Amino acid sequence: MEIEVLRHDIVIVGGGGAGLRAAIAVAEADPSVSIGMVSKVYPMRSHTVSAEGGAAAVARDDDDFEMHGYDTVKGSDFLGDQDVIQYFVQEAPKELALLEHWGCPWSRNEDGTVATRAFGGMSTKRTWFATDKVGFHMLHALFQHSMRFDQIVRYDEQFVTKLLVDGNTIRGVAALDIREGVMRLVLGRAVVLATGGGGKAFPFTTNGNIKTGDGMALAYRAGVALKDMEFVQYHPTGLPGTGILITEAARGEGGYLRNADGERFLVERDYGVGTKAELGPRDMISRAIIQEIEAGRAVTQGDWGEHVYLDLTHLGEEKIQSRIPMVRELSKLYVGVDPVHDPIPIRPVVHYMMGGIDTDIEGGTSIDGLYAAGECASVSLNGANRLGSNSLTECLVFGARSGRKALEFARGASEGDESSLRSEGANEAGRVDALRAKTSGTEKISGLRRALNDTMESGCGVYREEVQIQASVDTVQEIKRRFEDVEIQDHSKVFNTELISVLELSNMIDISEALTSCAVVRKESRGAHTRRDFPNRDDQNFLHHSLCHFDSTGPKVSTKPVTLGKWEPEERKY
Ligand code: FUM
Repeated sequence: MEIEVLRHDIVIVGGGGAGLRAAIAVAEADPSVSIGMVSKVYPMRSHTVSAEGGAAAVARDDDDFEMHGYDTVKGSDFLGDQDVIQYFVQEAPKELALLEHWGCPWSRNEDGTVATRAFGGMSTKRTWFATDKVGFHMLHALFQHSMRFDQIVRYDEQFVTKLLVDGNTIRGVAALDIREGVMRLVLGRAVVLATGGGGKAFPFTTNGNIKTGDGMALAYRAGVALKDMEFVQYHPTGLPGTGILITEAARGEGGYLRNADGERFLVERDYGVGTKAELGPRDMISRAIIQEIEAGRAVTQGDWGEHVYLDLTHLGEEKIQSRIPMVRELSKLYVGVDPVHDPIPIRPVVHYMMGGIDTDIEGGTSIDGLYAAGECASVSLNGANRLGSNSLTECLVFGARSGRKALEFARGASEGDESSLRSEGANEAGRVDALRAKTSGTEKISGLRRALNDTMESGCGVYREEVQIQASVDTVQEIKRRFEDVEIQDHSKVFNTELISVLELSNMIDISEALTSCAVVRKESRGAHTRRDFPNRDDQNFLHHSLCHFDSTGPKVSTKPVTLGKWEPEERKY
């Protein structure tokens, strides 16, 4: 089978915040370089668009890099790499200022300076915002700016199914054109993965349907380790029913969490957040909500199952409307509550994966020429728990750095042997065609996905313990076997969304394999990984990253040292 080959110097997979920033960094550094940007959705539909509350960077006189660095290290429960964190905090303000020059309308103070708001676990107001539609405005600015560069060639609605690796060097990707149903090779001398996280492996999540762990699974299957996958962030304030995010900005602007008795439980009881109360870090607040539910202090009446309240009624209509208008809009639309007058029902919801493709500080992976940035990567900024508003900035800082590094690599790299890449591509096209044409199969996609969602929630929830995690390990393996018998009813080529769902499901199964395998061996509680059977942090035995390697005989878990520095591990208390 002859396969069409497209060639660029650098291939970027993903058109969200990190991918666009990487592409712009390359284009600005060298106008002669051609960049192929392959994305399964049109860039403005990337999940970055749905980010709400803000992006963190030092902006005020009462703040400095030391404070942002320490907050991030402490937030990570000392599992963030301190060299990465120091680089991040220094680059952060430059990146956010640059974004303003590209058109991002940061909200302002009366005196014209950039407005910042409080966010969880941050010791001062350092979260830049554009009301509560920050991702929308950031993505627009990036996308518009990227369009200035003719050398960035977009391939929208193309689903990458395989990384092409020759020896230990990346050569490009094989991608399925969703509109036409044909496979093509997009070759390059360096590849940057920027495909986002995989929250859809869980049933209740803020993540859009596109977040199926694609880049993580591609790298994993190609031999790159996934790092720290056990750390899954539950955001405290998801809307029951849909899982839609109610931004932390609502608490940053002064919102309270209350139980069924109207108590501000974070103030009334010791949940470790001290005087930060509602502005404690997400892992601690999510645990507090679950404890309130377990203690019988949750709200149970109504349509929303057990939940607690986010109360904004004391803020007043003017503040709600001017600072967090989307919170009001979403609450009215999805739970029928106007927060000006009534509290919003909320409960913890899967929001973010701290883990991802193991990279060094430059986004480099164990495959030469392959880089990763954004949520699909684990550069080790976030360790065991990310602080809200660090991730949008992370997309910019490490998107730019991995793009520049990919350019440097590409300049010195060869192109590889096209005929062997063509034959590898033809094999991959044959595999995908055979999947689409498959007429046998008894396992429904929906059944497998539900089984996966259920086991991820029961084994890898806010609280975890051995028996349930081990059951998830086993169930994921069983789902993997059942997946071999998946049924496909749509054999057509054009916009075959059933085929895409199958490919996405396979990616979610693979990342869930890594996630559960890492969770079962980390026998301690750290950040978002809270084990009832091992309730304490154990620096003696577990102050290290987890790595999970793909192997045809089953996942292989190992460890990697954490890079410490001037901030010594200490008890994490607020
Ligand atoms: O609550 C939020 O607005 C989420 C922000 C983040 O995850 O960084």
